[in-house]
Amino acid sequence: MERLAVCPGTFDPVTLGHVDIITRAATLFDRVIVLVSVNVDKRPCFSAEERAELIRAVTKDLKNVEVEIMDGLLADYVRKKKACAIVKGLRATTDFEYEFQMALANRKLYADAETVFLVTKSENMYLSSSVVRQIAQFGGDISSFVPPAIADRIFERLYRPTKEAEK
Ligand code: COA
Repeated sequence: MERLAVCPGTFDPVTLGHVDIITRAATLFDRVIVLVSVNVDKRPCFSAEERAELIRAVTKDLKNVEVEIMDGLLADYVRKKKACAIVKGLRATTDFEYEFQMALANRKLYADAETVFLVTKSENMYLSSSVVRQIAQFGGDISSFVPPAIADRIFERLYRPTKEAEK
């Protein structure tokens, strides 16, 4: 039986940290769906379509990876797809409590899928989408945080020249 994993997230935008987790998940499972999902506490800068497009651009060589968009409950999606795992990246200990809570809630809602945590590479430990957004917004170099193929697109979309930069 095919072993399908779902990698959910906001991906606003996708970073090298996400790509690392997706790539490693693709070696562990037969098929991986990267799921652009809704975190009710976040108001993304990029539309869901834009976020999915950026992920497609950087995962196109991973033949068993697909990208989808979902605005409902993760557990319902996982049940519908008959996925066996939800894969998440775990960075610092600060992630743990939140991830633990989500994993337990998802198990209560759908017990047939395991949440699998992949420990992030140390160089991505303090990376997050909001760090990337802030750096790009103020004209900083994001090339070591996002895949080279999409760095310019992300920068152009987010850069807002300040009065300081125009001096
Ligand atoms: N490397 C670098 N950064 C990473 C990372 C990694 N491996 N993994 C996560 N991050 C970053 C993300 O970019 C994000 O950064 P930000 O806060 O600056 O935007 C942050 O860590 C948190 O990521 P994550 O824990 O994946 O949260 P999320 O908001 O991206 O995703 C959902 C949460 C969308 C998966 C969750 O809200 C969900 O399942 N929603 C669907 C609705 C639902 O079922 N809700 C109930 C869940 S119990």
